[in-house]
This record gives sequence, C-alpha cells and structure tokens, in this order.
Amino acid sequence: MLAGKLIAARIAGEAPSWSDLFDPVRLHPGVEAGGLLHNTAQVTRHFVGDRLRRPAHADSVDELPPGSGAVVRLGGERCAVYRAPDGRLQAVSATCTHMGCLVAFNDAEQTWDCPCHGSRFAPDGSVLHGPATRPLEPHDVPDDDRR
Ligand code: FES
Repeated sequence: MLAGKLIAARIAGEAPSWSDLFDPVRLHPGVEAGGLLHNTAQVTRHFVGDRLRRPAHADSVDELPPGSGAVVRLGGERCAVYRAPDGRLQAVSATCTHMGCLVAFNDAEQTWDCPCHGSRFAPDGSVLHGPATRPLEPHDVPDDDRR
C-alpha cells in the first residue's frame, strides 16, 4: 500500500514526508562503514580462524554422548556428527552451504549453527534457517567409528 502511494506521489511530483525512509540511496557509507567492517572481520575470523584453531572439535565419534554433536575428522574431512538419543550416528559435512564457514553444534537447540551469517541446520543437515538454502552434504560414518 505504501509503495502504491509513494509511486503515485512521485509521478505527481510530490514527496511525502516519509518518502526518505524508502529512498533507494538512503545508505550512508561513512556512518555504516564501521558496522560493515566489523561484520566482515567477524566472518573472516570464523572462516579462517575456526579452521586453524579447531581442526576438529572431537577426536572420535566415540566421545559423543547421546543427544550431542561435534565436528570430527572422518576420512580427512571435517564432518558434523550427531549422536541421536537412541545412539544412532548421523554425519553431514561441517562446511556451511552458504559461504563455507564451519558449523558448530548448538546443544540447547539440537541444531548445527553457522557462526558467520546465522544459518541453522537440523541434525540431518536440512536447512532450518537461512541464508543457506541447500542442506549440509550427507557423509558416511565409517564402520569402525560406529557404536
Ligand atoms: S557461511 Fe554464511 S551462513 Fe554459513
């Protein structure tokens, strides 16, 4: 409704007092650069730093108690492994399908959360919340790592 009123006013050569709120060039790079740089630094810190600081969050799936998850190296790949309350293991790629940061398990919500832009995935890797639109790739759990 506002868009219709605004377009009609602009055609008529008028500018309602609230039209500045919808001005497509309302960005203020000088004022907003600080926040943008801060966000970019955080994403970079997670994208690079998580790979350097945390090669894996657990050494083996044997360490996983039921109802928890951890990033584990399986076959040389970082995998997000979840152990269901009944003991079954489920493994998916730990690489977020949005831009490649590493996900981490959220114990409270029982989800895989990406620290970079907030995507959330179910234990089976399906997308619960974007910006990611594709699920985490499924991954086999080697037989010798199963319980
Ligand atoms: S890299 Fe952007 S949400 Fe994961």
